[in-house]
Amino acid sequence: MIYFDNAATTMPKPPEVVRAVTDALQSFGGVGRGVHAPALTADSAVYQARCSIAQLLGAPSASQVAFSCNATEALNTAICGLLSPGDHAVTTAASHNSVLRPLYRLRDEGRIALNVAPIGPDGALDYNAFDALFRADTRMAVVTHASNLTGDVYDVGRMARIAHRHGALIVVDAAQTAGTFPVDMGAMDLDVLAFTGHKGLFGPQGTGGLCVAEGVEIRPLKVGGSGVRSFDERHPTFMPERLEAGTLNAHGIAGLGAGAGFILDKGLDAVSRHDLSLAARFRDGASSIPGVRVLGGGADDHCAIVALNAGDCDSGLIARRLDDDFGICTRSGAHCAPLMHRALGTEEQGAVRFSFSYLNTDEEVDVALDALERITAEELSYCIL
Ligand code: ALA
Repeated sequence: MIYFDNAATTMPKPPEVVRAVTDALQSFGGVGRGVHAPALTADSAVYQARCSIAQLLGAPSASQVAFSCNATEALNTAICGLLSPGDHAVTTAASHNSVLRPLYRLRDEGRIALNVAPIGPDGALDYNAFDALFRADTRMAVVTHASNLTGDVYDVGRMARIAHRHGALIVVDAAQTAGTFPVDMGAMDLDVLAFTGHKGLFGPQGTGGLCVAEGVEIRPLKVGGSGVRSFDERHPTFMPERLEAGTLNAHGIAGLGAGAGFILDKGLDAVSRHDLSLAARFRDGASSIPGVRVLGGGADDHCAIVALNAGDCDSGLIARRLDDDFGICTRSGAHCAPLMHRALGTEEQGAVRFSFSYLNTDEEVDVALDALERITAEELSYCIL
């Protein structure tokens, strides 16, 4: 089997991650809830994970990293916890439904106004058009760092400067870049960064979180037990407890910490270079296959995702044949990014998405290119007949 669906979830995980979760299951007591050794073991692993995430993503400190169960929960927390009735928000057509649906819901309930910056048919964002959407009542922009569909990477530092010039906050969805592409919250001057654990960070599913700049106060989505200040009627206001109610998924977070540690050990630059070189090798090869259309590419940069279609063939058919005939796992159909599909003209066809990780190789890429060429030639010859 060749696994090229790492943008959905990385697989396999490094052995360090597997070991960390196994050890955690056998040794952790309730995290943040005790003074005995098993509870303190869990506390220490979660703290270590916070430190590694903060270092990798450029968060101001470990305590400004709050864990959640995925990027969707993190984004819901940021969006619902920062927007107030009467606010205006801006996003782009590259956004995933984890950004769009919380915003649409607030808009449909009459609580916010919303504008969406268009994306061109080549995946490009017009930053002047984005800038022009801001108004006096714009509270924030919620934007994706990289499209989960095309892998196009947008200049979130530039978008932060635009948002700040208008007195608005910037919230960035880094689900597809955290761990695979340089992300530096401080250098990019981001107010909030949402990440997921199970993709580029090599953690288990059910992990993710928010990195929050100092002074940005998010109203929590959930309140409840925090293990501290039990007699206070109100949930703690300090980070990270502010955004963490109930017992954390410490077993998963231990794995996430090991995944982040794995990347720090290898060096993010080395990991990113490897992933990007696989994607570039695949993109170059796929672009030269007759009948294949590689999607996007018009943005400032690109992460380790390549989406394509073969002629007019349904993307599900191509993905099914890649798996059935060659054991190659990709994602097909619609990718929870409806506006991006509309921009690319792939609403009906969907797209076949190949996404790469540090554990993939050049040889696997070459096998996939050969498979794609054979499937495309066969399927397109049926279409012509
Ligand atoms: N959002 C994830 C993806 O793009 C699940 O596949």
